Amino acid sequence: MLKIGICGYGTVGQSFVEHLRVHDDKIQSSVSEEFEIALIADRSIDKKEYNKDIAVTKDVMEMTSDSNINIIVELIGGIDIPYKVITSAIKNKKHVITANKALIAEHGDEIFKLAKEHNVYFGFEASVAGAIPIIQTLTNSMSNENILSITGIINGTCNYILDQMSSHGLEFNDALDEAKELGYAEADPTFDINGMDAAHKISILASLVYKIKSPLKNTYIEGIENITTMDIEYAKELGYSIKHVGITNKKNDSIQCRVHPVLIHKDNILSQVLGVMNALLITGDKFGTSMLYGNGAGGDATASAVVTNLVEAINFSSGKDLRNKNIFKSSGENSFNISKNEDIASPFYLRIYAHDISGVMAEITNVLANEDISIEAVTQHEPIDLDSLIPIVMITNSVNGISISNAIKKIESLAHVEGKVHAIRVLKTDER
Ligand code: HSE
Repeated sequence: MLKIGICGYGTVGQSFVEHLRVHDDKIQSSVSEEFEIALIADRSIDKKEYNKDIAVTKDVMEMTSDSNINIIVELIGGIDIPYKVITSAIKNKKHVITANKALIAEHGDEIFKLAKEHNVYFGFEASVAGAIPIIQTLTNSMSNENILSITGIINGTCNYILDQMSSHGLEFNDALDEAKELGYAEADPTFDINGMDAAHKISILASLVYKIKSPLKNTYIEGIENITTMDIEYAKELGYSIKHVGITNKKNDSIQCRVHPVLIHKDNILSQVLGVMNALLITGDKFGTSMLYGNGAGGDATASAVVTNLVEAINFSSGKDLRNKNIFKSSGENSFNISKNEDIASPFYLRIYAHDISGVMAEITNVLANEDISIEAVTQHEPIDLDSLIPIVMITNSVNGISISNAIKKIESLAHVEGKVHAIRVLKTDER
């Protein structure tokens, strides 16, 4: 009988235990050996409801050296303690499963090596895009393909907030409160809205696909804090939705790895991904583009991916499933340049506030023309009252980040323009 230890008994830990209870027969029939949950470690376990047949402890390190425990499921969150738990467990020859994207993005290279060295299973399916089997797909089903790009909506909280603002006219903070209540947001939701959570996820995918060391430090990260209902409405008028995406791709010897808001044309399938849903478009040189779509956040969705790893870990421990080895094969051995944001080209959405004075539009278009930027679409809105500024909204042709930054500086210094110009990249058709 294999013994499972769970570290961390929050939203995902509780959903995981419930999933095992409800689907016990089904799961036991797909594993090579019987198993049971033997121990739960959680600092505030006395404040939570749990099955009294299961032993509990407040000391999360205890189970890493407990010789009765064979598989540890780490669901604590954060980096420092999970790092100690996981590395210690692996050194003690325990199989490990985690949902911890921050840890994998920061220390994945080292942990993969350690797991390989100690010949233990290490599963992290739940770290990217909740219930969507993206790690499995990339490291097994597509492991013999040349992946050209991955573009995805990979933060459920951001997608939920943007969708609530767009479809129901909710204010940003109200939509965020809802996402917290529904269990989508991180313990510290700053990581969701400032793009860090998505950056962890896209870095993990880039390192798996391109066999590079984690590119997190060189990933361009922008969140959704500056997206306003007004931008969402103007984008709609032009035929676009605003989404937060993660993109990684390889062109020659350069890799792009970035997360930021984008305008997505309504004809692009990603614009139809609503609520907390996640979706990833994966493009390969032979298979074309495939899309994976599903629940990207929430206890049940994440726990479902953890259960998938548990079945693999049990079968791995009895030598019946060697798929996990693919993940570690040649991991981190390639090195490519990671493109800087200013060198990446795309069309841009610009929102400019100007005084309602004749000639102001000509001044702006002159600045753009001098930077060799042309305008693909433009709308000018009426001022709300006689004294107020007019919002001018435009979409440019595809230009690199440095040209747009230069143009923005010049536009902001025009006498009849007020405040900051707001720029958002527009997803190019070859990025879908
Ligand atoms: N906070 C994350 C999200 C949870 O909203 O996507 C899943 O990783």
